Amino acid sequence: MKKFLSVLLFVVSFNFLVKADEGMWLVQMLGDKVYTDMVKKGLKLSKDQLYSINNNSIKDAIVLFGGGCTAELVSKEGLLFTNHHCGYDKIASLSSVDHNYLRDGFWAKSKTEELPAPGLSVQFLVKIEDVSAKVLESLKAYKSEEVATKLPGILAELSAKAQEGTNYEVRIGNFFKGNQFLQFTYQRYKDVRLVGTPPESIGKFGGDTDNWEWPRHTGDFSIFRVYMGKDGKPAEYSADNVPYVPKHFLPVSIKGIKDGDYAMIFGYPGSTNRYETSYGVKLKVDIDNPSLVNLRDARLKCMMAEMLKDPAVKIQLAGSYASIANYWKFFDGEAKQLVKLNVIDLKQRDEAAFENWAKGKAEYNNLFPDIKATYDKWRPYAKHRMYINEGINGSSLLGFAASLKVLEAGLANPNSKPEDVTKLAQAVKAAHMRFMEAENIASDKNIAAVVLKMFYTDIDPSQRPEAFYTELKNGYGALENADTYNKFSAYVFDNTMLLNKAKWDAFISKPDVETLRKDPAYKTAIAFTDNYTNNYAKYYTEFTGANYVYNNKYLKGVLEMQKDKPMYPDANQTMRLNYGHVKSYVPKDGVKYSYICTLAGIREKYKPGDYEFDAPVKLMDLINKKDYGQYIDKSINDVVVNFITTNDITGGNSGSPVLNAKGELIGLCFDGNYEALGHKIAFDKELTRTICLDVRYMLFVIDKLGGATNIINELNLVKQ
Ligand code: ARG
Repeated sequence: MKKFLSVLLFVVSFNFLVKADEGMWLVQMLGDKVYTDMVKKGLKLSKDQLYSINNNSIKDAIVLFGGGCTAELVSKEGLLFTNHHCGYDKIASLSSVDHNYLRDGFWAKSKTEELPAPGLSVQFLVKIEDVSAKVLESLKAYKSEEVATKLPGILAELSAKAQEGTNYEVRIGNFFKGNQFLQFTYQRYKDVRLVGTPPESIGKFGGDTDNWEWPRHTGDFSIFRVYMGKDGKPAEYSADNVPYVPKHFLPVSIKGIKDGDYAMIFGYPGSTNRYETSYGVKLKVDIDNPSLVNLRDARLKCMMAEMLKDPAVKIQLAGSYASIANYWKFFDGEAKQLVKLNVIDLKQRDEAAFENWAKGKAEYNNLFPDIKATYDKWRPYAKHRMYINEGINGSSLLGFAASLKVLEAGLANPNSKPEDVTKLAQAVKAAHMRFMEAENIASDKNIAAVVLKMFYTDIDPSQRPEAFYTELKNGYGALENADTYNKFSAYVFDNTMLLNKAKWDAFISKPDVETLRKDPAYKTAIAFTDNYTNNYAKYYTEFTGANYVYNNKYLKGVLEMQKDKPMYPDANQTMRLNYGHVKSYVPKDGVKYSYICTLAGIREKYKPGDYEFDAPVKLMDLINKKDYGQYIDKSINDVVVNFITTNDITGGNSGSPVLNAKGELIGLCFDGNYEALGHKIAFDKELTRTICLDVRYMLFVIDKLGGATNIINELNLVKQ
């Protein structure tokens, strides 16, 4: 029996180890073991060619694009490739009903035709330093359960200090759950212009139906150019600026790919939680994900109803609809896959192996029972929190109204100085302008009605803001009826000063606390957010505080237990590298998915006039005429549209370059597959695939559909 047990433990402890092509490695800290493995798998470059402090390397061609995507330099004049869905917001805001680039696409045939995209910037990574000692020293002043709340402020302060007097931006990243802190220095360029985009019917072909799915036929790319001042330094937009001159740019290979080819991806993955405990997974699967999905489902339906009615509303809501929909489908699929792949079981086995290793080590005593108790305490309130964040705040009006709490506090405080109030009012005025630009009253009115009803139906009655619902019932009717909420919402939207220009201007030029408190949108929002803040937020603070301490300890132990094995930290929007292969897969019994999708599949999916599966007539003509040019894959007499690899990526990697063994661009990664949507929590070595746009399809669209040979000519094409 004992022997059996130890064999079992040996097997289970294996779960911790990095599997197959798992791993998001920090480029600058690539260990020899990992590099050797890359070479074994096919890499033909030296470590210095990937990253070097002194010489130009691939790392210099990779940028953090906008708020959370990746882009890469592909010409000596600052030309950038990224995904269509990464440029989507900007393309939408540059569009109007008359110049509808979202619908029709856009191709600059010369630099003068490029469109400045105010607010868009890219960041280059300059250097990384380990500042663990400094951060951990600053944390010593606090009790362990306070660390989670204090840490963001401490990191911000240390970053600000490091950045002072430089032209750089500094951010400190938390690695291995507070066991390591690395400081990243970035240089930001703010003059970024749109060079080209296919119509949405190519860039988002397949829409939300195909999103997170393979097989796939999406031309998910857009093209920008980064500019700098004449002095070579970052500069605000100016007609006098000149194209950025990269230290390195990527050659583009149109030689094609085969099943099994080496593939490597550099980029900025946003977040993973691979060391999450079984308790965390359970909360996610049972409460967090289903709540978020239900609320988003309701909001999306309200938005779509209006978008279908009016092209101007479609442009106005396109960006926010796409981002809400993207993670609506993700979180739904994530919970389902976590269950299907028995991830709670896998995590429990990891935890058992850990406990076995930790036996006799006093600091880990009782670790998992403590974690369990922490989750048990928080669980009754978890849904409530989601219903505030994704429900009440999911209505733009109620969300904006709730944000006015700071103004109320400032106005009500007898010690506030007039200049403080003026400052607050100015900030609120600016926020109100942004809110109004994005606000679509028709859909938001329905959203507010729906979420107020869902809150009533789904949240534990003892946690409801009782006075609000009593008043609602007395004024508008039975709380079970949708109509009650519709009437109430109509009243709020018709009477709030937040949507009435004359009333708002009068208020904000001379804000007074009574007017604010009486406003129906403010009153409604605050009934919910005050109820949460005053009664339940403390449990969340306790929960996150305790969880930080336990997770920090757990990871400290795991790092020690595995000290001889390569370990990679969770994604946290810092530059990572991963490697794998082009590879087909078996999604379910009896089915094998090819590693490529082709133009033939666009013809199969094509539905003229459909919201998701329409395609430009010109594209269909090119396909029918088989006018493939140099972008043809001769082995199949078709053009490869998308392909899949075994690389380990996540959201934020969107737009990342997919490189062959020689560091040439073969594609842009843009998605993950449905069968592995549990990937943020657990990498499944059989099922995880990265969905990539084949660079040959991209060039085919630019050249044959867009006629933008100027862009093709700017690239360094590798043909042999
Ligand atoms: N799933 C993709 C990602 O997160 C985004 C795809 C955007 N397309 C869409 N139909 N919403 O990177």
